[in-house]
Amino acid sequence: MARESRATLRYTRFFVMTLDNLANILVERDGAVATITVNRPKVLNALSMATLDELRRAILALKYDAGVRVVILTGAGDKSFIAGADINELAQQTPVAGREHALRGQHVLDLIEHMGKPVIAAINGYALGGGCELAMACTIRLAADTAKLGQPEINLGIMPGYGGTQRLSRLIGRGRALELLLTGDQITAAEAHRLGLVNRVVTGANLMGEAHKLAHTLAAKPPIAMRYIIDAVNKGLQMALPDAQVFEATLFGLAATTEDMREGTKAFLEKRKPEFKGN
Ligand code: COA
Repeated sequence: MARESRATLRYTRFFVMTLDNLANILVERDGAVATITVNRPKVLNALSMATLDELRRAILALKYDAGVRVVILTGAGDKSFIAGADINELAQQTPVAGREHALRGQHVLDLIEHMGKPVIAAINGYALGGGCELAMACTIRLAADTAKLGQPEINLGIMPGYGGTQRLSRLIGRGRALELLLTGDQITAAEAHRLGLVNRVVTGANLMGEAHKLAHTLAAKPPIAMRYIIDAVNKGLQMALPDAQVFEATLFGLAATTEDMREGTKAFLEKRKPEFKGN
């Protein structure tokens, strides 16, 4: 085999992710929309280390699957989205393992935030601790009116470790974040909406329908421009403003190289609906 094709094979294999042997999550496809359901209803979908690892594998598999344009993330049943990290595991952890656990959780949530495709959190009940942190790593949050959100780690003598202190303060502001983090209080979906922690509140019966409606709307948009917008916002927020603006301008220029840009502008001028192909 030629040297170059061997390298290509290795490269391809590196990115091929299988979704075999999933015991804690379900992954379903509806056209360009994939739904990941954390499926441990007996423990209110608490995130064990094995569950986090399955989420990591699923996110990578869906990221590199060109047929998938939008992901919905939810919890099994109608009581809980995710009730946090698995407290059975937390209770056993040593300091070294605790640090490793937090770093792994942060890694998985970073993968979600920087997936380059919109991830919609459909918050169908308790989103506490790691569940609230996971929802905050998603691109858009829809909540059932019965949902409860919060960072109750303080009540266990610990603190958020999956990036929650940082994402919450960036999302709702330092003062409000500190109040939630220090009291550990659970707040209603309506209060979370008032604080800007969730984008929209709908009835529990409509939650998945609304999530799918939004997902299909987003799936029809040009995916390269969508990826650049997500990158410009999420990565740009981690840069100094002048650097972020240069980054934005560079992505703006790159978007101008796409067929989808030609189609979008042409369709407007021809007064017809654009058909985006993702190239
Ligand atoms: N880790 C492990 N197990 C959990 C869990 C978690 N984060 N959250 C809930 N469970 C388990 C409970 O231990 C219980 O198991 P059991 O039936 O074997 O006793 C089961 O899920 C149902 O929970 P329960 O507490 O009986 O339900 P509830 O309706 O009375 O209360 C909550 C719901 C969410 C308020 C409560 O479960 C809770 O406070 N959970 C922990 C939230 C938390 O602190 N998360 C942050 C972790 S860092």
